Amino acid sequence: MTRITLINGDGIGPEISDAVVKIIEAAGLKIDWDVQTAGEAVIDTEGVPLPERVLNSIRKNKVALKAPVTTPIGKGFRSVNVQLRKSLDLYANLRPCKNLPNIKTKFDNVDIVVVRENTEDLYAGIERQVDKNTAESIKLITRDASERICKFAFDYAVKNNRNEVCVVTKANIMKLSDGLFLDSYRKISEHYPQIKKREILVDNLCMQLVQNPSQFDVLVLPNLYGDIVSDLCAGLIGGLGVAQGANIGLDYAVFEPVHGSAPDIKGLNIANPTALLLSAIEMLKYIGENSYAKRIEKALYTTLAKGICTPDLGGNASTDEFSLAIIREL
Ligand code: NAI
Repeated sequence: MTRITLINGDGIGPEISDAVVKIIEAAGLKIDWDVQTAGEAVIDTEGVPLPERVLNSIRKNKVALKAPVTTPIGKGFRSVNVQLRKSLDLYANLRPCKNLPNIKTKFDNVDIVVVRENTEDLYAGIERQVDKNTAESIKLITRDASERICKFAFDYAVKNNRNEVCVVTKANIMKLSDGLFLDSYRKISEHYPQIKKREILVDNLCMQLVQNPSQFDVLVLPNLYGDIVSDLCAGLIGGLGVAQGANIGLDYAVFEPVHGSAPDIKGLNIANPTALLLSAIEMLKYIGENSYAKRIEKALYTTLAKGICTPDLGGNASTDEFSLAIIREL
């Protein structure tokens, strides 16, 4: 039986992970979940929100499904997510954004995969206070990190039958840093003659995305542009309740929704489990369980097509009712 680390998170985390575990079980797939608590719940007992045992569990099992975890404000704790990405060298942030049935959005033909570099750029946090009125941040771009994320994007495109990988930069202005990212893309792209190439500046991309998103397929971006553009793309398909994500490295992968722990709706049984479920579906594909991934995706789509959804999408189903409806389809 496959053993997978399950970080059930806090806030709405336990509600939505419970729903997703039940749905996977109902599909007939047996997974040995190695449940690891993290976040606020363990700070008092273990002193930190991300204890070493959680990292060790992922190191052992290689794959994790993660529900959101609260980052306490002003207590000096680093975000659990940033820590996870750094400790496990999860260099690729993958966010597929595709329209779902019955969810009304401005466009009905969005199918974009955002591949964001996860380890450097302005996110490296190399900052200094030059003087009282001046602060400085360093935008760090290296050839190794740029080439490996571009290779990841092209490999993803080949494996998932995508047609094009478009690189997004501002290389006309940041000629050295973004120029290096662009150059790395060009070099890697030569190994993938079957995939179409495209280069676009990030400002133009944003304008095109809100006017005609269907022209885009796979996007590959440095960290900060990736952060911003992936939220824009999440908005195109219906927002946080349906936005899935994954952090992938050479050795480990952590699949998680884009949204946070939603403390405002904790315990109300109205949280939407779709984003975590879509992340789990991507995880099943990653571990080679494609037929289960397809079955669960179909059950989710049929449920949404019948108009059954949680209040964030305009419906009136509770978390339990929505997941039971998916289970019935299975
Ligand atoms: P949030 O994403 O938790 O919530 C923003 C709004 O979206 C809220 O109104 C919430 O009710 C709604 N929402 C989010 N997910 C939903 C879902 N599945 N179904 C229905 N409604 C949903 O963002 P916020 O409030 O800024 O952050 C809360 C906490 O989560 C913070 O401590 C933050 O650090 C943490 N966080 C954790 C993340 C993670 O673990 N990956 C990612 C983002 C934030």
